[in-house]
Amino acid sequence: MNVWERFRLDGRRALITGGSRGLGRAMAQALAEAGADLVLVGRDEPSLVKAVHELNPLGRRVDSLCADLTTGEEAEHLCRQVLAQHGPIDILVNNVGGRRENLATEAMPLETWRRLIDLNLTSAYVCTRMLGEPMLQRGWGRIINIASICGQIATRNIHGRHYETAKAALVGFTRAVAADWAPRGVTVNAIAPGGFLTDANRRWFQERPEFQHEIEHLIPMGRLGEPDELGPLAVYLASPASAYMTGALLVIDGGYTLW
Ligand SMILES: NC(=O)c1ccc[n+]([C@@H]2O[C@H](COP(=O)([O-])OP(=O)(O)OC[C@H]3O[C@@H](n4cnc5c(N)ncnc54)[C@H](OP(=O)(O)O)[C@@H]3O)[C@@H](O)[C@H]2O)c1
Repeated sequence: MNVWERFRLDGRRALITGGSRGLGRAMAQALAEAGADLVLVGRDEPSLVKAVHELNPLGRRVDSLCADLTTGEEAEHLCRQVLAQHGPIDILVNNVGGRRENLATEAMPLETWRRLIDLNLTSAYVCTRMLGEPMLQRGWGRIINIASICGQIATRNIHGRHYETAKAALVGFTRAVAADWAPRGVTVNAIAPGGFLTDANRRWFQERPEFQHEIEHLIPMGRLGEPDELGPLAVYLASPASAYMTGALLVIDGGYTLW
C-alpha cells in the first residue's frame, strides 16, 4: 500500500457527535473526502439536513440523527439507535462539547457543573463504551476524542473551569482506554485544538469583541485556526496511516501552548 492509500477510508463508517456545524462538520467533510460514510449527530434537525445536503455530492452515504447528548442516558439512547439502524461504526469522533458558561468557580451551581461535565466527558465515555464494544469484537476501530488545549492550560480572561476539568479528564480517559484496547485493534487518541473560528467562539467574541484580539495575541501564529485545518489530522487518526499510534494527544493550536 503506498503512503496515500494508507489515508483512505473507503468502506469505513464514521460517527461524529456534533457533526452538523463547527469542527465536527469540518472533520465530517474531510473523512467523507477520504472515502468514509458518515453518521452525523446534533440537536437541531435543520442544521443536520443542511450538512447532509452539502456532503451528499461527495458520493458517500451520509445519515443523521437528532440527539441531545447533555445526559448520559440520552447518549445511551442515541447509541442504541445507532447500533440498531446505522451500525457498524468503525470510526467514532467524540466531538460534542464546549465551555458554554462563563461562571467563576465560586459561583458555579452544582447542577451546571454536572450538566457540563456530562456534555464534555460522560457523552464520550458512553459512546466509547457502546460503539467501541462492537469494534473490539471486529478487531478494528478508531476513536478520536476532541479535547482542547484547555485540558493542559487554563484559558485567561474567561471562567467556567468545568471545561478545563472535563477536557483534562477526557485526555486521561483516552490514555487509559487506549492502553486497555491496544492489543485488540482499536486505537484511542485525542486532539487538543487551540482557538478555532467556530460559532461557539464567535458567540464569545460577540459578547466581548476585545476577547478575539486577546486570544490572537497569545498565539505565535497570530490568528485563530480555520475549522478545515483540523480535517487532515482527523483523517490521519481515523485511517490505517495511524495504525501504531494510540493514547496520543495531538496538539493543533498555532503554537498557543508554546509560550
Ligand atoms: N472551537 C474551538 O476553538 C475549540 C477549541 C478547542 C476545543 N474545541 C472542542 O471542539 C468541539 C467542537 O467545538 P465547536 O467549536 O465546533 O462547537 P460548535 O461550533 O458549538 O458546534 C458544536 C456541534 O455540536 C452540536 N451540539 C452542541 N450541543 C449538543 C448537544 N447537547 N447534543 C448534541 N449535539 C450538540 C452542534 O449542533 P446543535 O447545536 O444543533 O446541537 C454542532 O453540530 C468541542 O468539544 C469543543 O470543546 C473547540
